[in-house]
Amino acid sequence: MQRDLGSRDQRFIETVARVRARLLSIAGADDERYASIPVQGAGTFGIESVFASCTPPGGKWLIVSNGAYGERMVRMLDMLAVPYAVTRSPENRPPDATAVASALDADSRITHVAIVHCETTTGIMNDIEAVGRVAQQRDRRYFVDAMSSFGAIEIDLEACGIDYLVSSSNKCIEGVPGFSFVIARRAALASTRGWARSLSLDLQSSLEGFEKNGQFRFTPPTHAILAFDQALTELLDEGGVAARGARYRHNREVLHRGMTAMGFRGYLEESVQGPIISTYLLPADDAFEFDDFYDYLSSRDLVIYPGKLTQAPSFRIGTIGRITAENVERLLGAIEDYLVERGIDLQNHG
Ligand SMILES: Cc1ncc(COP(=O)(O)O)c(C=O)c1O
Repeated sequence: MQRDLGSRDQRFIETVARVRARLLSIAGADDERYASIPVQGAGTFGIESVFASCTPPGGKWLIVSNGAYGERMVRMLDMLAVPYAVTRSPENRPPDATAVASALDADSRITHVAIVHCETTTGIMNDIEAVGRVAQQRDRRYFVDAMSSFGAIEIDLEACGIDYLVSSSNKCIEGVPGFSFVIARRAALASTRGWARSLSLDLQSSLEGFEKNGQFRFTPPTHAILAFDQALTELLDEGGVAARGARYRHNREVLHRGMTAMGFRGYLEESVQGPIISTYLLPADDAFEFDDFYDYLSSRDLVIYPGKLTQAPSFRIGTIGRITAENVERLLGAIEDYLVERGIDLQNHG
């Protein structure tokens, strides 16, 4: 990141080409069938680029939602004035592929289906393969938000029937924030020419730009791309997606063991819990206050997340990023100190 490359400079163009090729290889995707398209901005910009540029005139989406990121997709479609239907399941339950099948069978106007892989609202893992099979059998295009899972959890694009997948620079690939990327099935994207409802988020034009001169159409986050190139090298050095996923799973096991031993209760059943982020119910003890807890940890350089559940007060702890079980142990030690200092005994209060 300390190098300052010109965005039209040959060295930067080569970096972008390498990053795009490595993304495909991490996705296990073939360059003939898929293309990777970096999109400036946060992950949300990448998601919005799919809705804004891949919806045909008269098209309709089915959003499969069980959390805040599914609901954000719904908001985007509202803002774009694109028709949609929603199948919702509770935040602690993965969507049911049969319900998706019924929704598709009941409405032939639906052309596209979208789902979140790891719903970071809770940390639940949704079965993108089962839902994808249903969409594929019914000839619908399929879009997966893999923001918080891509790079650590294997995703078989072909087996899932994925036409569009979105993730970002700063989650499991461990780059710095600055851009997202779309992995698109070439045949699907090629059919979208002329559909874009946004100039800057037009994916087909972006891809044409990359393929014409290797450049972004508009100023790219050059430093974030350089950092990402290094982050991809480190991902490959670590042993790729499987090894990274194993480290995260271990982080999460250490976390959950320690948290439950102290008396915290996880929100999700373990059978649907992923290794990315875990939700814990806020203890009922009046002495336990989230803001105070957060500040206590943050002042020790330990950063957690507030809860995002609609149903119960909670907080979340992420186990991804450049952290190991030792970092998790340090967090657990600080949480234990907090409980002792505030005189909170979760074993008695629950
Ligand atoms: C599943 C999922 N989708 C979308 C987003 C939005 O990404 P961003 O905050 O980069 O816009 C996030 C962020 O955590 C996420 O976890």
